[in-house]
Amino acid sequence: MKLRGKFNSMLLVVFGLALGASGYFSYQQLNDNARDEVLSNAGVLMETILSARTWAVNEVGPNLRETEEDEEMLMMGIPAYAANKVMEAVQKRYPEYGYREVALNPTNVKHRPEDWEARIINGFRGDATKEQEWGVRETSKGPYLYLARPIQIKQSGCLGCHTTPEKAPPKMVAIYGDNGYGWKLKEIVGAQIVSVPLSVPIANAQRMFTTFMGTLTGVFVAVFILLNLMLTALITSRLSEMAAIADEISKGNFEMGEFNEKGNDEVAQLSSAFNRMRRSLVKAMEFFNKQSD
Ligand code: HEC
Repeated sequence: MKLRGKFNSMLLVVFGLALGASGYFSYQQLNDNARDEVLSNAGVLMETILSARTWAVNEVGPNLRETEEDEEMLMMGIPAYAANKVMEAVQKRYPEYGYREVALNPTNVKHRPEDWEARIINGFRGDATKEQEWGVRETSKGPYLYLARPIQIKQSGCLGCHTTPEKAPPKMVAIYGDNGYGWKLKEIVGAQIVSVPLSVPIANAQRMFTTFMGTLTGVFVAVFILLNLMLTALITSRLSEMAAIADEISKGNFEMGEFNEKGNDEVAQLSSAFNRMRRSLVKAMEFFNKQSD
């Protein structure tokens, strides 16, 4: 294999390995970053909704007990209602963000969990130390990241509406019927689930990945071309020239003149060494010729 072939195959192997490794790691990193960003957005949204719930149950609810006749006012004291109102406002700006409060035995039948949601609730019920669960779900609208937290009955204030229809405000019973009673203190009754689409951050990550890999490939191609040009100009063309002259000299033909000594690199040093050798050879030949005359 010629010098250029050896040199280029080594370069290609190194570039291939470097591209493969950086591609693999940057792909992982970019996707992890995209997911972490979405997860942190989901966390912020969850906290926002949680604050609305706390506010409703601690501050609005207790002040409403005297005005129970007023249906609108009653609704405002329901934590789930406050949570959904906040979410409605958020969805005006971010329609693709989703929030569900699901319970195994819900007050509002719309909050009956789907299979995957029920699995999450049961996971929380089975392990009281579990504070949250997140994952990615494929949906018809692309991948969604969900973040779920358990809903536990921590305050006895909750039980006023969720124990029996007799205890609950009559207006509530009139609206929701007999669903969602029999909840107990400390029981994990359901889960809050925030869903955020992953398709946009993933598309961004893909775009960054393509740009990064494209730039890296561009740099490699430029380096490859430059090194090849340098290889030709500094080494291979000069060596071929020297080989041609040396070849002629070996046949006793000194007409091609001296080796090119321009520059002070190793090839130039070799050329001047060859020139000295050529001159010695010429002198030796002259000497022999004289002897034989
Ligand atoms: C003033 C009555 C009232 C109080 C107090 C109350 N809730 Fe509710 N809760 C309701 C009503 C009514 C709904 C259904 C709201 C809807 O249609 O979205 C509901 C819904 C829920 C839901 C959603 C699933 C479902 O059953 O539809 C959960 C979970 C929930 N409540 C938990 C709690 C917790 C925890 C507390 C205490 C922090 C609490 N609730 C306090 C009346 C109440």
